[in-house]
Amino acid sequence: MDDRLVMTGMRPEDEDIEMSLRPHHLREYIGQDAVKSSLSIYISAALKRHDALDHILLYGPPGLGKTTLACIVAAEMGQNIRVTSGPAIERPGDLASILTNLNAGDILFIDEIHRLSRAVEEVLYPAMEDYALDIMIGKGPTARSMRLDLPKFTLVGATTRAGRLSAPLRDRFGIVFRLQMYSPEELSQIVARSAGILGMPYDDDGILEIAKRSRGTPRIANRLLKRVRDYAQVRGNGRITAQVAAESLQMQDVDDLGLDRVDRALLSAMIDKFGGGPVGLDTLAAVTGEDAVTIEDVYEPYLMQLGFIMRTPRGRVCTPAAYEHLGKTPPATVKSENTADAEQTQLF
Ligand SMILES: Nc1ncnc2c1ncn2[C@@H]1O[C@H](COP(=O)(O)OP(=O)(O)O)[C@@H](O)[C@H]1O
Ligand SMILES: [Mg+2]
Repeated sequence: MDDRLVMTGMRPEDEDIEMSLRPHHLREYIGQDAVKSSLSIYISAALKRHDALDHILLYGPPGLGKTTLACIVAAEMGQNIRVTSGPAIERPGDLASILTNLNAGDILFIDEIHRLSRAVEEVLYPAMEDYALDIMIGKGPTARSMRLDLPKFTLVGATTRAGRLSAPLRDRFGIVFRLQMYSPEELSQIVARSAGILGMPYDDDGILEIAKRSRGTPRIANRLLKRVRDYAQVRGNGRITAQVAAESLQMQDVDDLGLDRVDRALLSAMIDKFGGGPVGLDTLAAVTGEDAVTIEDVYEPYLMQLGFIMRTPRGRVCTPAAYEHLGKTPPATVKSENTADAEQTQLF
């Protein structure tokens, strides 16, 4: 699979549309109310002091609006943003050159920040803490270290899993936000906004039908909207009605909770091959042919949110709700056994 598809679940041609649908200001950013209200206070305070904003860590599953929020922070601060990602910064020198080219107040966005190498991270510590860069000059016994001052910048880091970040790096972020999955009502607002931008006529219940199947994720909502638009133009009169939305999404194997073929394959494998679990992630990846990281980052968060699977110390288990959704009868023992050793699960 295309690496980009793994990370974003998105076809390359959908990216242009995604750019046009991306909100540019905090007031256009729908949902995440707690994050928005804290952020707007921090931004106003920093602007008042004519100071840079503290470093911000954003975490949560793909497609919830981390990159969008980073760009919004830059826009609201009236500053430039430099966008890069953990895997793109291979050597300490790469990061040093990015840092020395920043201007005061700039926002440096590092996506997938958990994928920075240890050596690169070590350059980041003094940069974040003291706005300084320690460089070694020369080699061997005559080598000496020199400290360069950096402009006061704001690092915005994004990751799908805060748990993968090293503690020293995580501790250097003054502001940490976890993005939540969106409610169907919030997703309806996002889909309606997108339909408006794309010039598509719609009924409210048509929009809601898409929102309900979007797995709590704006990127998926926009992607489904685009597919429904194609269907509406070919099979209907171009208007997004509830019927058009339901038919078109059904045709794409997206069920009424937004589960697709892969979700159902995961659940079926757990139920049919492992009696509902517990089953380990790697085993699940092997029997379904899906990548373990993709299962963990893309599929599981929503299945856990729905209460269909739980993580236990012995592996993943299916809940009776998952059996029922697939039209299967849960064995009498599933409920008590699996709930008993389910730990309180976090998304990271
Ligand atoms: N709060 C929001 N309001 C409106 N649209 C949003 C919101 N969050 C995300 N989106 C839409 O979803 C798309 C994916 O968001 P993105 O910021 O790329 O997610 P992430 O970086 O977390 O993977 C964006 O292009 C944008 O159109
Ligand atoms: Mg992103």
